[in-house]
Amino acid sequence: MAIGVFDSGIGGLSVHHALVERLPQADFLYLGDQANAPYGGRPGEEIVALTRAGCERLFSAGASLVVLACNTASAIALRRLQQTWLPGCRRELGRPVNVLGIIVPTIEAATGLPWEHEAERRGEKVEKLDVIGVFATPATVQSRVYEIEIDKRRQDVAVFSEPCPELARLIERGEPREALQACIRGHAEALRKRIGRYPDRAILGCTHYEIVADLFREALPPGTPLIHQPTAVADALTAYVARHPEYDIGDGGRRAFMTTGEAADQNGLVQTFWGAPVRFEAA
Ligand code: DGL
Repeated sequence: MAIGVFDSGIGGLSVHHALVERLPQADFLYLGDQANAPYGGRPGEEIVALTRAGCERLFSAGASLVVLACNTASAIALRRLQQTWLPGCRRELGRPVNVLGIIVPTIEAATGLPWEHEAERRGEKVEKLDVIGVFATPATVQSRVYEIEIDKRRQDVAVFSEPCPELARLIERGEPREALQACIRGHAEALRKRIGRYPDRAILGCTHYEIVADLFREALPPGTPLIHQPTAVADALTAYVARHPEYDIGDGGRRAFMTTGEAADQNGLVQTFWGAPVRFEAA
């Protein structure tokens, strides 16, 4: 048995990297749905259906837990799958399986509060002091998940999101850094104009963006803290598997990388990020 990690493409590798460092003995199966990437401009129902298909594939390959290493899938599909599909799926498989998302741990890291915490609303106007900028896909931005969930917990934090419609596709294709730099600078500037200043902190709310986090650092004022989603997810998963020994995550340190697209070495951006070539096999 193993931990499955799912994304539309290469973005989830940024999360996978942190998970493997934290749980080196566990067996990991990675699946990138590159035949259907990117997800960020797709209608919600398609994102739900594709995410379900990815989870099915990973469960049938031996995953007991699937981490949706994709903000878009976590924001749009996770709750639906947990409520309407997973119970039947568990009965059919006859073993414990679960799907976990990455937005909850990111919000916990951004607010410094556990997910269960809800701010007391006293009715008085709270001056928003801390401004978080979120860079994400159009689907994630439209869901307003970061605005809604952070506002429930911290009324002294304001969230502004910037949709980046082309960026995941450019990263997936391995476009030259200059092209990515221009795109990222444009989005940082658009966000600055919308807020009236740069954000105090930022969330790279699409796992693809972490692969070029240095370009975001460059486009934002020096020292702007980036809330590190891979670390937040690794912290949460480590605690989860310790609390839930019923999920068999393997102990052979096995690593497999699969794609719904063509078997291939992944692009140079991945190689630089990973420190070695990464080859995906056909799923
Ligand atoms: N990496 C994904 C995310 O975190 C999806 C990017 C896409 O497929 O548009 O949102």
